[in-house]
Amino acid sequence: MGLKACLFDMDGVIVDSAVHHFVAWKRLADELSISFTEEDNHALKGLSRVDSLDHILRMGHLHLDEKTKVKLMDQKNAWYLDLIQGMREEDILPGAKELIESLVAEGIRVGLGSSSRNAQLILDNVGLTPLFDTVVDGNHITLSKPDPEVFLKGAAALGIDPREIVVFEDAASGVKAAKTGGFFAVGVGEEEQLSEADKVVPDLSGLTVDRLRTWMSA
Ligand code: G6P
Ligand code: MG
Repeated sequence: MGLKACLFDMDGVIVDSAVHHFVAWKRLADELSISFTEEDNHALKGLSRVDSLDHILRMGHLHLDEKTKVKLMDQKNAWYLDLIQGMREEDILPGAKELIESLVAEGIRVGLGSSSRNAQLILDNVGLTPLFDTVVDGNHITLSKPDPEVFLKGAAALGIDPREIVVFEDAASGVKAAKTGGFFAVGVGEEEQLSEADKVVPDLSGLTVDRLRTWMSA
């Protein structure tokens, strides 16, 4: 099967927003007197906002009612929005824009598959929206990664078989989602955290369409 489309995760693949998520969650965890480190934050990558909060509350053995949880998520998101509002084209991770442009130039469809409800805002801020054929984000899904829903919706929107699509992911949960959905998964980051991926690259710089085609046909 050949390469017909690529689906990109956003946080940690296109922009380095993970640090902003961490700062905002850390502030919330501090207020709740729950210890939360950058290492702990790895487990939240790819998880939805509510799954992330539940993870932190479990770490602190805290049980809260739904109303309080909604309040806490709104607070975290307000802090996060403050942190990302200044994001611009310079905040795009190395190689991401170049790769997406070369895919578009070759007629390969490009989509976003992110758990974030802020994905469209960030894509707009960094100026990448016009390059995307479809954007599926946290507002369109009911199940967060590792469920493949976000990528399957992207494939359906593009009308392309998952076997002809490469998914780029920096989170173990996202790589699992891609593999469960039948996609070719390229992990972006460290090999040891992304061992389920078909290929792992440290970042997207220097990655060519030809290389993707070779990987898929191997
Ligand atoms: C991404 C990030 C997660 C984040 C999730 C929801 O997948 O990797 O860390 O929790 O999106 O983001 P949101 O912007 O909707 O709170
Ligand atoms: Mg990510």
